[in-house]
Amino acid sequence: MGIKEKIDLERLPKHIAIIMDGNGRWAKQKGKMRIFGHQNGVRAVRETTEAAAEIGVKYLTLYAFSTENWNRPRLEINALMELLVGTISKEKKTLNENNIRLQAIGDLQSLPKKCYNELLNAIDETSTNNRMTLVLALSYSSRWELAEATRKIALDVAQKKILPEQINEETINNYLTTYGMPEPELLIRTSGEHRISNFLLWQIAYAELYFTSKLWPDFGKEDLYEAIVDYQQRERRFGMVSEQLK
Ligand code: FPP
Repeated sequence: MGIKEKIDLERLPKHIAIIMDGNGRWAKQKGKMRIFGHQNGVRAVRETTEAAAEIGVKYLTLYAFSTENWNRPRLEINALMELLVGTISKEKKTLNENNIRLQAIGDLQSLPKKCYNELLNAIDETSTNNRMTLVLALSYSSRWELAEATRKIALDVAQKKILPEQINEETINNYLTTYGMPEPELLIRTSGEHRISNFLLWQIAYAELYFTSKLWPDFGKEDLYEAIVDYQQRERRFGMVSEQLK
């Protein structure tokens, strides 16, 4: 039995989030420039998206560029942005053919104009697709998102649109960039690092964490399926005891 057949389709995580890591090390191992790793990372993005859609995952969120990534050498940032623009415009057709909707979270205004426009265009042109939503986290960091949400809530309180005593967990959910999306139930990080790196801190409160030593460009369909099988073998208790779940 292949790994795919081991998946219980009735208990799929609705939302999988991935910290794609290890492109630079992958390229270095091959004696190439870091951007070569990112270019090969695109293949893994394509394969993982296809694999997730194929089995029926509803949301796939990929950490493609963090707020902190702006501190990388200019040359790498420029090359990454070019790669993003190129990939988004090239893959738009495939997204539509596969009924996949594109969305993005993060400080999108801070992206180069060309990248921002291409992204908005792809989001718009795939907006009616409903098989799966692919969410790109771009210029995203969780602390940035939480600060933004807090500022917006404070503004609405000042304008008397909401009362302080009405603020609860749902209010906060409604002000996050992930508004309307189910919480990720499985978070995957590649490359052997065991960190969250400022990614979806609020949203992953109850997510199962899965770490693999594979570098992102080597990650493929089977790896995603393996992570899902591992997830399905875990007992998710949400603060309760085992017996209560039976
Ligand atoms: C982390 O590897 C990867 C990134 C910062 C960029 C991810 C981008 C892509 C896979 C390409 C385009 C993506 C889309 C969605 C079209 P790293 O550079 O931190 O690797 P290292 O830790 O080995 O240095």
